[in-house]
Amino acid sequence: TKVLVLNGPNLGRLGRRQPEVYGRTTHAELAHLCVDWGKKLGLEVEVRQTNHEGELLDWLNAAADDNIPVVLNAAAWTHYSYALFDACAQLTAPLVEVHISEPKQRPEEFRHASVVEPHAVATIAGQGIDGYRQALELLARG
Ligand code: DQA
Repeated sequence: TKVLVLNGPNLGRLGRRQPEVYGRTTHAELAHLCVDWGKKLGLEVEVRQTNHEGELLDWLNAAADDNIPVVLNAAAWTHYSYALFDACAQLTAPLVEVHISEPKQRPEEFRHASVVEPHAVATIAGQGIDGYRQALELLARG
């Protein structure tokens, strides 16, 4: 089974970006780990990251057409993009929402809302990088 792991804005700077919040694992390392975890679970994982909202929407539209399960960390777009809400609504295969931190426990009010959550079979947050492994495991279990 093919699975897409899609990461939104600023996650390309993982490892350097506020390591006290997001840890020291880089995006390249995360991508490697996800492919490895996927292999062990019998999943063919492809990891992508973009800072361009339209690109993420294109990927989600294609995933809807191709019926591909998605692990999505939409980063800040999670909190305010209604275009992202609409794109997630169109998905046909399961969607798992992931956040490295726990946005609902953070002081900024704007992080407490998620446009992804209503469309996701599960939200995994506050587990660090391991959240991605947990999301893949959930999809592998079906
Ligand atoms: C994040 C949490 C978001 O609030 C934030 O905008 C991010 C990363 C996380 O993985 O914890 O960029 O999605």
